[in-house]
Amino acid sequence: MTTGHEPRHAATAPATPKVPAPIEVDLHAPLRDHWRKRLERNQDWYAGTPILKYPESLRIYEHLLWLSKPDVVIELGVWQGASSLWFRDALLRLTRYGGASSPRVVAVDVDVSIARRGISAADPAWEDSIDLVQADVCDPSTPERVERLLAPGARCMVVEDSAHTLDTTLASLRGFARLVAPKGFFVVEDGVVDVEELRLDGYPRGVMPAIRRWLRSEQGAEFIPRPDLDVYGISNFTGGILQRAGAPDG
Ligand SMILES: C[S@@+](CC[C@H](N)C(=O)[O-])C[C@H]1O[C@@H](n2cnc3c(N)ncnc32)[C@H](O)[C@@H]1O
Repeated sequence: MTTGHEPRHAATAPATPKVPAPIEVDLHAPLRDHWRKRLERNQDWYAGTPILKYPESLRIYEHLLWLSKPDVVIELGVWQGASSLWFRDALLRLTRYGGASSPRVVAVDVDVSIARRGISAADPAWEDSIDLVQADVCDPSTPERVERLLAPGARCMVVEDSAHTLDTTLASLRGFARLVAPKGFFVVEDGVVDVEELRLDGYPRGVMPAIRRWLRSEQGAEFIPRPDLDVYGISNFTGGILQRAGAPDG
């Protein structure tokens, strides 16, 4: 029974807050504790959709996009799709500053249904600028499927954010590094899984060993680690910012 005087929102579930909960800071606790607290709560929001990236990671991406001005971001591991929207929007911002005029994001995940829901709720016109590819990064045919979506000569940046294991990291590097433009970037996220002081229980392992192994290969020898671009101190990109050598095209 209602009285007609309840607050108007009383009959509906409270809306999900679309900003993260604040992190309490103890200035006397070790930095490591603060980092772990952030990892435990590692969820933020973008365009009303959950995103698994720190603000400083997004700033680093802005620097990398500025330095390399790619036509396409190839994102491996998409989850709810907010990161694909973020990369697309960051590329669109760059169109005002000499970036590609019609940038795209090609986003790969073993299951793109969740991303399709998240992205289309935020932007019904997403298909103009984002391709969702349902595929496993370990499947040797996946890089070719992605390549078929690219315009000839497209300059790509690759972001690996899938399962953070040795196998997925190696497969991503081996399969997708050739699509990175000269002077462009391949970013492997979450090398932090292999840093004992920083990792959480239950994390996978293998990202940093995969990067080290791949950098020793003929293909990896074309890439240079750029820890100097991991500029905000502690980060989850540990060892994962890789730049392709060579002169940029055109
Ligand atoms: C960490 S989440 C991605 C987070 C997202 N990039 C963000 O920043 O919000 C990892 C995603 O990788 C996907 N994934 C895991 N293993 C994969 C594989 N072998 N190939 C493709 N995608 C994979 C999972 O389905 C999951 O959606």
